Amino acid sequence: MEHLRPLAALCILAGIVAAAAATEMVEIEVVEVEARSSYIVHVVPAHAPRLPRRGLLASRAYGCFLREHIPTKLSSPAPTVLYSYSHAATGFAARLTWRQAAHLASSASVLAVVPDTMLELHTTLTPSFLGLSPSSGLLPASNGASDVVIGVIDTGVYPEGRASFAAHPSLPPLPPGRFRGGCVSGPSFNASTLCNNKLVGAKFFHKGHEAARGSALGEDSESPLDTSGHGTHTASTAAGSAAADAGFYGYGRGKAVGMAPGARIAVYKACWEEGCPSSDTLAAFDEAIADGVDVISASLSAGGKAPDFHADIIAVGAFRAVSKGILVSASAGNSGPGEYTAANIAPWFLTVGASTLNRQFRADAVLGNGETFTGTSLYAGEPLGATKMPLVYGGDVGSKICEDGKLNATMVAGKIVLCDPGMFARAVKEQSVKLAGGAGAIFGSIESYGEQVMISANVIPATVVPFAASEKIKKYISAETTPTVTIVFRGTVVSRRTPPSPRMASFSSRGPNFRAPEILKPDVTAPGVDILAAWTGASSPTGLASDTRRAQYNIVSGTSMSCPHVSGVSALLRQARPEWSPAVIKSALMTTAYNVDSAGGVIGDMSTGGASTPFARGSGHINPNRAADPGLVYDAGTEDYIDFLCALGYTAEQVAVFGSSANCSARAGSSVGDHNYPAFSVVFTTSETAAVRQSRVVRNVGGDARVTYRAKVSAPDGVRVTVTPRTLRFSARRRTQKYVVTFAQRTLGRVTKNHTFGSIDWSDRKHLVTSPIAITWPASQVTVAVAEM
Ligand SMILES: *[C@@H]1O[C@H](CO)[C@@H](O)[C@H](O)[C@H]1NC(C)=O
Ligand SMILES: *[C@@H]1O[C@H](CO)[C@@H](O)[C@H](O)[C@H]1NC(C)=O
Ligand SMILES: *[C@@H]1O[C@H](CO)[C@@H](O)[C@H](O)[C@H]1NC(C)=O
Ligand SMILES: *[C@@H]1O[C@H](CO)[C@@H](O)[C@H](O)[C@H]1NC(C)=O
Repeated sequence: MEHLRPLAALCILAGIVAAAAATEMVEIEVVEVEARSSYIVHVVPAHAPRLPRRGLLASRAYGCFLREHIPTKLSSPAPTVLYSYSHAATGFAARLTWRQAAHLASSASVLAVVPDTMLELHTTLTPSFLGLSPSSGLLPASNGASDVVIGVIDTGVYPEGRASFAAHPSLPPLPPGRFRGGCVSGPSFNASTLCNNKLVGAKFFHKGHEAARGSALGEDSESPLDTSGHGTHTASTAAGSAAADAGFYGYGRGKAVGMAPGARIAVYKACWEEGCPSSDTLAAFDEAIADGVDVISASLSAGGKAPDFHADIIAVGAFRAVSKGILVSASAGNSGPGEYTAANIAPWFLTVGASTLNRQFRADAVLGNGETFTGTSLYAGEPLGATKMPLVYGGDVGSKICEDGKLNATMVAGKIVLCDPGMFARAVKEQSVKLAGGAGAIFGSIESYGEQVMISANVIPATVVPFAASEKIKKYISAETTPTVTIVFRGTVVSRRTPPSPRMASFSSRGPNFRAPEILKPDVTAPGVDILAAWTGASSPTGLASDTRRAQYNIVSGTSMSCPHVSGVSALLRQARPEWSPAVIKSALMTTAYNVDSAGGVIGDMSTGGASTPFARGSGHINPNRAADPGLVYDAGTEDYIDFLCALGYTAEQVAVFGSSANCSARAGSSVGDHNYPAFSVVFTTSETAAVRQSRVVRNVGGDARVTYRAKVSAPDGVRVTVTPRTLRFSARRRTQKYVVTFAQRTLGRVTKNHTFGSIDWSDRKHLVTSPIAITWPASQVTVAVAEM
C-alpha cells in the first residue's frame, strides 16, 4: 500500500469536500456524515502536555490538547484519542475528521499530521550454518545473551505447547532488572500461565486496527495471542529455547533453537489479519522503549517505495529507540529483485536481506521421456508411485493459473496439472486441483525469480519448479500425444556444494537506497529461505480454513525470517560487548561479513543465476563469531543522524519529528556521503563530476591499543580510489583515526553497467575490516552492451 504523504492527502480531500460544501444545506449534511479516520499527530515537544508515564491519564491530557486546538465549529464529531506517544515519538494518534486534521496540521503546536496507514509484514539448521557453537565463539562468550531482552513487534506469540517459549531452567527466574515490561492477559491468553522467564513480555495494540475496521476484531484474538504464525516464527528464531525433535511433517527434522537461546522475549503485537496499522506499530515502539528492551526486531515496513523518513512511522520509532541505545534490526522487504525496492533504509536501522541455507526440500518432476527437473516441496502425505501419470497444462484444461472452480474435472481427474504462477496463493490452487480430482500439481515460478521457487505447506502431491523448467515442461506437453510425469519426493537434502550457499533470494529487496543513495542498503544478509521455526496452533500452516492440520513448526521464507536471525545475533553481541552502541554492533556485523559462497565464488543471486551485488547482499552474510572481534568500528549517534537528516535538506519541523530541536541552517556543510557508515555508496551525477570525497572515522576496539592498519583497495570499474592516509596508527591515546576516500572518474572512463562495485579493506594482519563500494553512474557514461540477453 502506498504511504500517503500527509499534506497531499489532506489537499485532495479538501478539494472534494469544498465542492460539496457549495450550499449551506450541504455543509450541514457534510458535518453530520463527516467520516473520521485515524491520524498520527506529531506535537512540538515544548507544547506537548506533561504526561504520566503511560495509561489513561495520558490520553486525557491529549483530549485537553485537542479541545484547545480545535475550534468549536469543527468540534463535532468529537475526536477520540487512540494513543499518546512519549518515547517513540511526541504526540498522539486519534480519530479525526479531515478538517480537524487539516486544522491541527496548520497549528503552531503541531509538527506534522500523518494518516494512519497499513504497514506490511514482510525458520533448524541455522545456528550451525552461522557457526554458532555452544563450546566456543560468540555463543558461550555472551552466555547466550541471558541478560538481554529482545522486543519483537509482530503478530504476537502462540506459546502454548511450544518448547521455544517454555520456562528456561538455567535462566534466572526474573528478567534483567532494568526491564519494566510484562504480560497482559486476554481471551485465549492467560499471562500467568503462558509468561515465564523466557517470554517476559506480551502486549497488544489494536486501537488503530479496530478503528479502521469500524468494528471489534474478527477472527483475531484481542490479546497477545498469535493467530497467524508469523510472530511466533520470528520470535522463536531470534531467541527461542532449544526444542528437541522439531520439524514440519518430517521435513527439516532436528533440534530447533533461536540465535540467542538465553535472551528474553517481549512480544508487542501490532499486526493483525489486514496488516500493521502505523498507529498501533508506533504504540508498540513507544511501549518497547518504555519497557527498556535492548533489541527491537521489526519484520515489517511501509508498502511500496520507502516513504520519506519523517513520514515513515517505523523510521521515527526506530530513531528514538536507537537514540536510547536500543538496536533496531529490520527486514529489507520482499519486493525484489527490482532496484530501489529496499525498505527500512534509514542509516539507524540494521537492514537485513535474505539468502539461502545449505538445505533444500527436493522434489523432482520426472517426465515420461526421462527428463528430470529439480523442484521443492513440503508435501507430507502418501508419495506417488514410480509409474508415470498423465500430465496436463492448466491452460489446456480451463485455467493457466489453476483458478478455483475453473478447472474441468473431466479433463483433470487422475492427472497431474502444471499451473502458472500468479493471482492466488499456492494453497488455493492446490485446493482447486484437488477439487477437480487432480492427482497432483507442478507449479511454475515467476520469471523474475530466476532459479528461485517459493514453497508452501503442500496439501496434495506437488512440487514447485523454476520458471525455465516450467517453460520446458510446457513444451514437452505440447509436443507429446500422451505426456506423463511423476514426482519423486527426496525430503530434506543438506549439501555444502550443490547448489552453493548462501545465495541471495530473488524476493529480497534491493538497493540503491531510494531516499539517500549515498547510504548503501541493505546492510547485511542472513538466512531467510525455507526457515523452520515455531508456529501458531490457532490456524493451519497453509492459512486455509479447509486445511485442518495444526503444526508446532512451519517452514516459510522472507526477509521477515532473516531479520530475527540478525536480532538474535545482535543480542549476543550486546551482552558480549556491553559498551558497544547500536551503530558499533551494526558496524561489527557489516565489516566482518563474508561475500564468498561454499563453492568459493561470489555469493550468487537466484534471480539472475550470476553473482549478487552489494545492492542485494549489502556488506555480505553475517559471520557472528568474527563480529565479536572486528578490530575497527564505525560509530554514529543521535547527532550524526541529525546531521544526516539536515544534509538531506530536512526542515526544522521535519527534524523535530525525530525529537530534535536542531537548527539545520546552523549545521551547514554536512554531507550525506560523510555520514560515518561502514559502507560506501557514491553517485556521479554528470560525466564531469569532480572527484567525490567521503570521510570516515574508525575506532580501534581490538585487543591491542598499539596497532597499525593498512588500506587495500579493490577499485570499482571506471574509478580511481585514493585512501588518505593509507596507514592508520592507533595507540592508547589515539583510539580513533580519520581517513578520507577520493573517488575520481577515470579519464576516458566509460563503463558498461549502471553500477560498478569494489571494496576497501583495512588490515592489521589479524583483523580484516571490509567495506563495500558501490558507484552509480549517470546514463551518459554507460555504454550499453549490444545484444545483451
Ligand atoms: C490463569 O491461570 C492461573 C494459574 O493457573 C489461574 O489461577 C487463573 O484462574 C487463570 N485465569 C483465567 C482468566 O483463566
Ligand atoms: C470438460 O471437458 C469435457 C471433455 O473434453 C467436455 O465435454 C466438457 O464440455 C467440458 N466441460 C466444461 C464445463 O467446459
Ligand atoms: C538557525 O541558524 C541560523 C544560522 O546560524 C540562524 O541565522 C537562525 O537564526 C537560526 N534559527 C533559529 C530558529 O535558531
Ligand atoms: C540503466 O539506467 C538507465 C537510465 O539511467 C535505464 O534506462 C536502464 O534500464 C538501466 N539499465 C539496467 C540494466 O538497469
